[in-house]
Amino acid sequence: MSDTRPIGVFDSGLGGLTVVKALQKLLPSESIVYFGDTARVPYGNKSKELIIEYSNEITNFLIKNDAKLIVVACNTASALALDTLKKNVSVPVLGVINPGAREATKATLNKHIGIIGTVATVNSGAYENAICDIDKSIIISAQACPLFVPLAEEGWLEGDVVEKIAAHYLTPFNEKEIDTLILGCTHYPLLKNVITNQVDEKTILIDSAEAVAREVHVQLSIFDLLNNSGQKGLLTCYVTDIPMRFETVGKRFLGSSLDNVQTVHEV
Ligand code: DGL
Repeated sequence: MSDTRPIGVFDSGLGGLTVVKALQKLLPSESIVYFGDTARVPYGNKSKELIIEYSNEITNFLIKNDAKLIVVACNTASALALDTLKKNVSVPVLGVINPGAREATKATLNKHIGIIGTVATVNSGAYENAICDIDKSIIISAQACPLFVPLAEEGWLEGDVVEKIAAHYLTPFNEKEIDTLILGCTHYPLLKNVITNQVDEKTILIDSAEAVAREVHVQLSIFDLLNNSGQKGLLTCYVTDIPMRFETVGKRFLGSSLDNVQTVHEV
C-alpha cells in the first residue's frame, strides 16, 4: 500500500527548511506541507505557554491539510511542546530532540557532549534529559547562542563579526573537552563553518535535521505510511507573514528554489 498524503513539518520560521532538505534527500517521493510561523518568530525567547499554544494551532492546521505524520522541526517547540502535541493528535508526532540526542550519544567517545540552542531550548533541559535517558554517565555542557538565529536569517554566515560572536559562545567548550556538539537549533547548520572554526577540530557536529529524517523514515515504515509511488513529492509552504522574504531567504536553507508559498492569516 502507498500513502500519498503529505508529511506535515513546522517551524517558528524558515529554519525548519533544513529539515525539509534532509527529508527530500532521504524520502524523495514524500510530499511535504510546511508551515513557517514567520509572523511570530522567534520562539526561542518566548514562554512555554505561548510556544505550546502556537504549536497546537499549527499542528491542527497541518492535520486539516491531511498530514499523515507531523515533524516538529523547531528545536524550541520540540523541547517545550512535543509532549502536549503527542497527547492531542491522532497521527505520529516527531520532534528533533530525541533523534539528535541519540546521534550524539552514539558519536561521543569520551562521553562529553556539548549542546547549543536558543535560550528556551537550553533552559528547558530537554536535550540533557534525552541524553540522560540513554546514558546517565555522559557529561553535558550547554550554551544558548541567541545571536546565531538573526545572523543566519540575515545571511551573515562568515567574516570577522560572526567569528567573534561564535568564539564568545563556543570557546568555553574547549576547556570542557567535549568531543561532540549538538547543533540544537534549526538555523545552526548554516553556521557550520564558523562553528567548526571555533571548536576543537576533532569535535563531531550533530545536525538534528539528518537524524530526524532517518527517524521519520523508520516511523513511516512502522505505521505503513510510506509513499511508494516512485514519483517526486511536492512541497507546499504556508507562512503567517511576508512570503517574498520566506522565498528568498528560504532558498539558502533549502538549497533550492521555493515556489508555492501561501500566506495564512488565521491559524
Ligand atoms: N526554530 C528555532 C529553533 O530551532 C529557532 C528560531 C526561533 O527562535 O524561533 O529553536
